Amino acid sequence: LRKLKRAVYGAALGSLGYTGWLMYRNRNPAEQKPFDPSKKTLVLLGTGWGSTTVLKNLDTENFNVVVVSPRNYFLFTPLLPSCTVGTIENRSIMEPVRLLMRHKSREVRFYEAECTDIDAQNKELTLERRVDADGNQVPAGQGETTKISYDYLVVGVGGTVNTFGTPGVEQHACFLKEMGDARKIRRRLMDSIESASFDDISQAERDRLLHMVVVGGGPTGIEYAGELHDFLVDDLTQWYPELADRVRITLVEALPNVLPAFDKKLIDYTQSTFKENKITILTRTMVKEVKEKSFIVQNPDGSRSEIPYGLLVWATGIKSQPVVDNIRAQFGAAQSNRRGLLVDEYLRVKGASGVWALGDCALSGYAPLAQVAAQQGKWLSRNLNRLAVQNTDDPKADLFALIEKNCRQFKYSSQGSLAYIGSEKAIADLPFFNRNITAGGIATFWFWKSAYLSELFSLRNATLVASDWIKRFFFGRDISRE
Ligand code: FAD
Ligand code: NAI
Repeated sequence: LRKLKRAVYGAALGSLGYTGWLMYRNRNPAEQKPFDPSKKTLVLLGTGWGSTTVLKNLDTENFNVVVVSPRNYFLFTPLLPSCTVGTIENRSIMEPVRLLMRHKSREVRFYEAECTDIDAQNKELTLERRVDADGNQVPAGQGETTKISYDYLVVGVGGTVNTFGTPGVEQHACFLKEMGDARKIRRRLMDSIESASFDDISQAERDRLLHMVVVGGGPTGIEYAGELHDFLVDDLTQWYPELADRVRITLVEALPNVLPAFDKKLIDYTQSTFKENKITILTRTMVKEVKEKSFIVQNPDGSRSEIPYGLLVWATGIKSQPVVDNIRAQFGAAQSNRRGLLVDEYLRVKGASGVWALGDCALSGYAPLAQVAAQQGKWLSRNLNRLAVQNTDDPKADLFALIEKNCRQFKYSSQGSLAYIGSEKAIADLPFFNRNITAGGIATFWFWKSAYLSELFSLRNATLVASDWIKRFFFGRDISRE
């Protein structure tokens, strides 16, 4: 027994020491080597799941690395819906990219800018910094521009929200794609609630303000509706008791059911949980227009109705980024699909030389998922590291050509799907040997929490998220309007 005790104490002390060392190393990175003119320049576009995974795993001994992104942080998107109501604070799921860069053995350069164009002939990129002195976005074409060169390019620019050209969406709806979107939803939500608490408004106007609408029954819309429900039940009932009963949540989906990519059992479970939680689901209903205070739907029988709302969140999936069209245009007939960049089994952009694409902007035959982008990033960085080491003596070696001869093709291995559906319940569709197992409920919620906690980008992020969950448990969500 004494031996066991000693082993336990030893292990505890060891892990404490290791955590301390990790924290010290995090705050005190070692000196970095400068750029080496004899190495090739590898430019990474984007700081999302794909490009950041490349950066994390790439050995910068072998390349001069340059990162270009309008966002100087990585965003852990799976927990973004939690930020819309304050279950998690925004910065807890953001990881500054410079922390990662500073821990590489060789200096990495970063440009906080958008890549707007590419000259494939001269291997040159045009960058535009679309931010004014107050930090606000300026319209495309009005920012400062600069040009940089590359030997190798990795395009990981993700996608952008798809409105399908529906009138009024850009002007009146909120999206849920970036941190700025979550911030805007939280502000508008509190705006609607505070406005509804005025005495001198009509009951119809109060009901409009308290009608929260989610368009799109994919995982984003479902998770957001779940978070909104929790906010209503846990917090609004306490702090706005006179209003909480009048708040309505409606989810509108054009297809016959929500979550089309999930197992039928999980779809039924989600729909019945939403029913219990008094979230109305309108299926086979398509939003045709969004106005300032109401939206128009086409009902299942083909008729149209106008429904008033206070807050409308548009979560109907993604389409390709504008820069992707410019990149496609450089590679002619090989890039015939307007939905993104066609890549081969080695993630090489078809028709290009020295250009790879990964994640949501690449048409690789896989769904637009963080898991896919991260696995692609890992695959690409490991192969580039290996090829660079194998060819250190040959500065002219073309890794773009060598990857096909020397590496296995990229194959995605699904780790399953998880989604939070509100009231401390989650659903999971997990691969198990050759079958899938499905689960839904409170135990799955704890699995969901632990899975996301372990997948967070850094120990720092995991600590912040865990402390947000504890804070919420003891003090509730912060309802102040920023
Ligand atoms: P992104 O992560 O979108 O990153 C793109 C990067 O490119 C960003 O840094 C952006 O600023 C930058 N960029 C954009 N334009 C330019 C330009 N012109 N020049 C340079 N840089 C540019 N997937 C899952 O597998 N599981 C989940 O639970 C999950 N939850 C999600 C929840 C939400 C709310 C959302 C919105 C998505 C979720 N996803 C999830 C999907 C997942 O986030 C995406 O599939 C993933 O982010 C794709 O990674 P990416 O690297 O291709 O692009
Ligand atoms: P999505 O494409 O999965 O779903 C969008 C839904 O909106 C579709 O069901 C579509 O029928 C519906 N729709 C489109 N236009 C409409 C209209 N006018 N009116 C009503 N409904 C309309 O989009 P989502 O949820 O944004 O997800 C994007 C990607 O991110 C997907 O690949 C998804 O799997 C992934 N993701 C995964 C998560 C997870 O695994 N937990 C969480 C969030 C996103």
